[in-house]
Amino acid sequence: MSDTPVLVTCGLPYTNGPCHIGHLRTYVPADFYVRFLRHCGDEVVFVCGSDNHGTPIVISAEAEGITPREMSERYHRHFDETFKKMLISFDRFGMTDDPSNHARTKEVVEKLIQNDHIYKKIISQSYCPECDMFLPDRYVEGICPFCGEKARGDECDQGCGKHLEPGEIKDPVCKICGGNAELRDQEHFFFRLSDFNEMFEGYLPDLKGTSNARNYASGWIREGLHDWCITRTLKWGVKFPEHDDLVVYVWVDAPIGYIAFTEEWAEKTGGNWEQFWKGDSPVIHFIGQDIIYHHCVFWPALLEGAGYSKPDAVVASGMVKIDDKTFSKSRGYVVWTNDDYLDLGLSPDYLRYYILSYTSHTKELNFSWKEYQARVNNELVDTFGNFLYRTLHFASKKLGGVPDYTPDEEITGRIEEAISETEAAIREYEFKSAVDSIMSLASYGNIYIQNNAPWKLIKDDREKAEKVVRNCLQIAKGLVILFDSLIPEKAQEAWEMLGFTTSVKDQNLSESVTGFESEILPKPSILFEKIEDEKVEEYEKTLNIRIEEAVRKENKENKEDNMITIDEFAKVELKVAKIYEAEPIEGSKKLLKIQVDLGDEKRQVVSGIAPFYTPEELIGKSVVVVTNLKPAKLFGVESNGMILAAGDDASLLTSLRDVEAGTKVL
Ligand code: MSP
Ligand code: ZN
Repeated sequence: MSDTPVLVTCGLPYTNGPCHIGHLRTYVPADFYVRFLRHCGDEVVFVCGSDNHGTPIVISAEAEGITPREMSERYHRHFDETFKKMLISFDRFGMTDDPSNHARTKEVVEKLIQNDHIYKKIISQSYCPECDMFLPDRYVEGICPFCGEKARGDECDQGCGKHLEPGEIKDPVCKICGGNAELRDQEHFFFRLSDFNEMFEGYLPDLKGTSNARNYASGWIREGLHDWCITRTLKWGVKFPEHDDLVVYVWVDAPIGYIAFTEEWAEKTGGNWEQFWKGDSPVIHFIGQDIIYHHCVFWPALLEGAGYSKPDAVVASGMVKIDDKTFSKSRGYVVWTNDDYLDLGLSPDYLRYYILSYTSHTKELNFSWKEYQARVNNELVDTFGNFLYRTLHFASKKLGGVPDYTPDEEITGRIEEAISETEAAIREYEFKSAVDSIMSLASYGNIYIQNNAPWKLIKDDREKAEKVVRNCLQIAKGLVILFDSLIPEKAQEAWEMLGFTTSVKDQNLSESVTGFESEILPKPSILFEKIEDEKVEEYEKTLNIRIEEAVRKENKENKEDNMITIDEFAKVELKVAKIYEAEPIEGSKKLLKIQVDLGDEKRQVVSGIAPFYTPEELIGKSVVVVTNLKPAKLFGVESNGMILAAGDDASLLTSLRDVEAGTKVL
């Protein structure tokens, strides 16, 4: 137990699309952590909110003909409801577009200006002459200046992953009209990150949380910090002080939302927000690995520069993949939390269990329905569920309730050991090890009941059977309290099967070794249902259909991309030619060396048609040849053109009526 309160936050979801399983890897572990600390007796404040600003939201809203605020409210509600269904319970779930965040952001930015961490600079930025506007962030697409891949205006999403500053993207194209953008000068404001080099030297080595966050951040600091342009020419966002045409970059006001939401929580509950943001009470950020830079570099510098306390810990998860493929909504590699999971009646607890038990928090989580099924069936159903049911069934049916004995010390000792192992792992953010410790207590229980077989003992030693079952019930009580942070809905049901009328979430871990509320136990029911193979096939099918649809859509788009103009086509020079000589090429089964007559010239062409024609039958044939191909050498033989043929068996193209050799094909 710790006597200072802690503030736990989660990366704020953007309000331009629904919740998916990738998101859950931030929220589920954070919720597990918070619930567990509360079972330890710690005081925890848990806040989050939706991230409403930035260009993707404006663009999505424009596409639907609604305002960005309307779009944000829709998805804000969606996330709020989805989190509740997933049993993720924030003390406050705010919106970055609400007045408290506008006010807090203004205050922070003004402080940064006062403290001389912000300066003005004229930069050349993408501008669309057709649409007559500057093109911030996602309003432009082009080529990444670092790796040459296709990129978005603010990040190289398909290549090297680098953050792109305004004006950096090459060959910018306007997202609205598709026209070429040009560069125009405009005055912007910059945050001098380089002011904070020294601060980072002291701060990063002590930053708690997962090692990936600390290590990535230290690497970036070593590479050297470059200043950030923190204004955008946009209407949607938090206005930059005294510049009505500019808003602050979304990554300025989004993390400040953490402060604003703590203020909103304090306002509602009479709590104290300043202890976290201006005092020593720890702040712990849960995020995904994709936003480590923003949380470990940019954000601490903003806080330091404006005179606030910096985060104590950053807990960064590995990314979620689907069937071994990078998560991608456009390619169909996505599992939607509602459509593909909750709406099918699947248990939020099962998904929480899967996310937390699958692998260490900093590793990639590769989602597959088969793996999900295996975890649920083998661990929740067969281990924990089985132990609980055997114990409760025997106790209520054969012994009429909780036998009146004190559990053995060996048993309470084993429960306490599981508790301390679990707690230690959780405080180190090793959630998988924590789950393993809990599960190993369930396995212990199973082995204990199996070895002691009370169903046999009862035949000639009832007292001994009762003692064994009392021990089992104690293990079950400990397990249910331990499992509550992981699978809260099932844990509450199990708690009631143990005869309690209270809420398991209010129990301190120390209650794991104390007695029962009632001697009478209700008739137990089966807590966990197995996931059947047919169901898994069905879920996999939904995923595969989505992937296939995405491929089809992409092919169609590529076809459109591949269209050429008549001028481009006219570059290809095609002529009718008459073959007057053909011979095999030594060493090649496929190639023939062919001499053709083009009227005013003769040419040698190498063609891969040997499997389909003998040299003799080709002589005298009229064929179509590409005559302006760059020369190439095949098997050491020069080729000056290409003979056109159709299909796998190379049916040669010819003219319907006889034409003179050298006639152009148009
Ligand atoms: N709005 C920003 C965060 C601002 S925090 C001041 C953002 N939003 S998000 O909607 O893209 O992601 C919300 C959370 O989910 C983040 O913690 C992010 O890291 C996490 N994830 C989103 N997709 C993910 C995966 N595919 N895998 C793992 N986590 C990912 O980022
Ligand atoms: Zn345009």
